[in-house]
Amino acid sequence: MSKVLIKNIGTLQTPVGSYAHKGAEQGENLVLKNAAILIDKGIITEIISGDGANIKFRVEEEQKEADSVIDADGHLVTPGLVESHTHMIFGGYRQHELPKKLRGATYLDILREGGGINDTVRATRASSFEELYEKTSKFLDEVSSFGVTTCEIKSGYGLDFDTEVKCLEVLKKLNQEHPLDVVSTFMGAHALPPEFKGNIDEGKPDDKEGFFRLMNEKLLPYIAEHDLADFVDIFIEEEVFSVEEGRAYLEKAKELGYDIKVHADEIKSIGGTELAGEMKAKSAEHLIVADSKGIEALAKGGTVAVCLPGTSFYLGSTFAPVREMIEKEVPVAIATDFNPGSCPCLNLQLMMNLAILKYKMLPEEILTAVTVNAAAALNMENIVGTVEVGKQADLAIWSIDDFNMACYRYGSNLVKKTIKKGELI
Ligand code: NIG
Ligand code: FE
Repeated sequence: MSKVLIKNIGTLQTPVGSYAHKGAEQGENLVLKNAAILIDKGIITEIISGDGANIKFRVEEEQKEADSVIDADGHLVTPGLVESHTHMIFGGYRQHELPKKLRGATYLDILREGGGINDTVRATRASSFEELYEKTSKFLDEVSSFGVTTCEIKSGYGLDFDTEVKCLEVLKKLNQEHPLDVVSTFMGAHALPPEFKGNIDEGKPDDKEGFFRLMNEKLLPYIAEHDLADFVDIFIEEEVFSVEEGRAYLEKAKELGYDIKVHADEIKSIGGTELAGEMKAKSAEHLIVADSKGIEALAKGGTVAVCLPGTSFYLGSTFAPVREMIEKEVPVAIATDFNPGSCPCLNLQLMMNLAILKYKMLPEEILTAVTVNAAAALNMENIVGTVEVGKQADLAIWSIDDFNMACYRYGSNLVKKTIKKGELI
């Protein structure tokens, strides 16, 4: 099936241009009424719009030529959504943390006690390739039902050679076999695993050097050689990894040819955002407690700010200073952060509602944040993220008539059909 016609689009709304949109441009979308899209071999070849008789005739003629026709029923069509930050590959769940949280334990308290990420590491190490493949594949099916057509997934619940490689191999296979494009990020530096942890009672310090030897001398080179990841990320946070450790590690990753991402300023501000800007990271992610200095560094480094309102919501923390980022010309993307600890939610539409209410973003800014800016955070902006001729035909057909409604109604899935490379999924 090569020629596809999407007809009867009431409103087509999309950012324009294959680059990260910042400042005022973040809020600029093209809005076309009464449109149709022609697709050939998964690529958009023409966008027709208007309501004159000759346009109607043209669409009828195209319908005769098309191998398949998809009816948008007069509703809204946008680019397929781009999910730019998840930790979607893991064993087990962590619902047992909830009572602890209700008794007042914080995210870092639970991590310190050997729970949190450590718990998920145990469950992930115990999971087989097939189990991880099945579980992640179902998550991808679920995100695609919300209109997502490209999805980033970070490793980081293995933290040893075999499990990190296993997870990245699962992601590679999913990218080949699942309809969604899967972008994989190696996040072996997510937490210090138990085998490198010290013991205060025995006076034994953490062996961070040993851990980074494993990362730098074994894992990074192996992953580069076997082409198992698109990006490298590290969690820079108090009690996890310091700015100095991050800098040395990310330099090594860059030497091996990786683009880098940084988990920065999620809980305590220790300088991760500044480092991301300084090292020209492709993206800095979380940024809940980023300050003006950090934001200025991102602007200077051309780094995309990937903001994750679902995590603030779930951790009960403050929300990233997105208005200041937009004012200071930092391109902003929004993602879920889907993971078993700090955001067990994979509904990107819900993040759009939170972005309106908590980040005070405008609907047009939000559409840019979940499409082309998210694509730019993944080096995919030339392929996906806008509805333009030459782009991959990744689209969301909504059950509503305008994008404001998508930011206003919350809790329901407002996407009716998801189209990947011109085909319904
Ligand atoms: O992005 N910050 C680190 N990683 C995840 C949480 C991981 C977990 O708690 O399992 C995050 O919030
Ligand atoms: Fe995260």
